[in-house]
Amino acid sequence: MAPKLSNRRNRDRRSGAAEARRLKTYPHPYPSGWYRLADSAAIGRGEVRELECFGREFILRRGQTSSEIEISSAAGSHSVDEVHGQILIYFRDTEANQDVGAEPPYPAARIAEVDSGKFVHRGSYDAGRVHMHIVEFAENGADYAHFQPVHGRMRIPWTQIPIPGIRINHSASWKLDPERKWVSYFLNATQLEIFGKPIEGAGGSAQVMFYGPASMNYFRFRIPKIGEIEMIQSHLPVRPLEQQVDFRWFADRKIPRLLVSYVVGNWISQWRRDIGIWENKIYREDPALAANDGPVYRMRRWYRQFLPEPDVRIPP
Ligand SMILES: [Fe+2]
Repeated sequence: MAPKLSNRRNRDRRSGAAEARRLKTYPHPYPSGWYRLADSAAIGRGEVRELECFGREFILRRGQTSSEIEISSAAGSHSVDEVHGQILIYFRDTEANQDVGAEPPYPAARIAEVDSGKFVHRGSYDAGRVHMHIVEFAENGADYAHFQPVHGRMRIPWTQIPIPGIRINHSASWKLDPERKWVSYFLNATQLEIFGKPIEGAGGSAQVMFYGPASMNYFRFRIPKIGEIEMIQSHLPVRPLEQQVDFRWFADRKIPRLLVSYVVGNWISQWRRDIGIWENKIYREDPALAANDGPVYRMRRWYRQFLPEPDVRIPP
């Protein structure tokens, strides 16, 4: 039997009945799109690995003479690409009558600055499993009203320890890519405030490119006068309400590594704030929204393209 890729077992099995009730409220758990399966370095030449995801078993094989990767499951061979040190698969759910052998409708994303050598790899972080549905990450970007209450306090990067007196003011927006219908953007400008007074020059902006169904998310952090950082946050559904979450980041060669880690760690601290919500909520098809709640319905209409069947329950 081939050795298993490290794909950590969940720490605790949630109560089956409560999870089943939650799952019933959600759309299809495995939308079509590009997903990260593993780091390239996890499989050497001539090696074979097993991986459990999308509720089934996959076999990954790397060639002996060429470095090519082949990925197969009981349904057959899958479209695969290897980009910026990650093994990606275009997944279609054959159990929802999708044709696994068809060409992907669009290529995997590439970061131009990584290809040109302007950005270099500065770190990776295996965040383990989160017991959530993948759509929740897309919903999060469109839910403007939660930013201030959930993400309004500055934390020591990589921790949940709040920094007294410092608040983060968010201003969020969401838009579609005019040409690539599988791409949308969430933009967030932040301004720091100490004891109610804005801190001159302390702030920045982040753009998140949702490339497909929240499986591959590309963050661009802009630090004024210093440079840019690109961070990939990927979600791989292991089971319907269980995502393997990974981060991988690249930065302008000239940005000090400590500053890069500070910026990424700030995001990780804020991301962790949402987990307790995502792991306990249900999905409402027709949420009652207030005027400042953000474009939740528009986002859902965009997201519908990734679901194996038109989800007729969402109003047009
Ligand atoms: Fe959030």
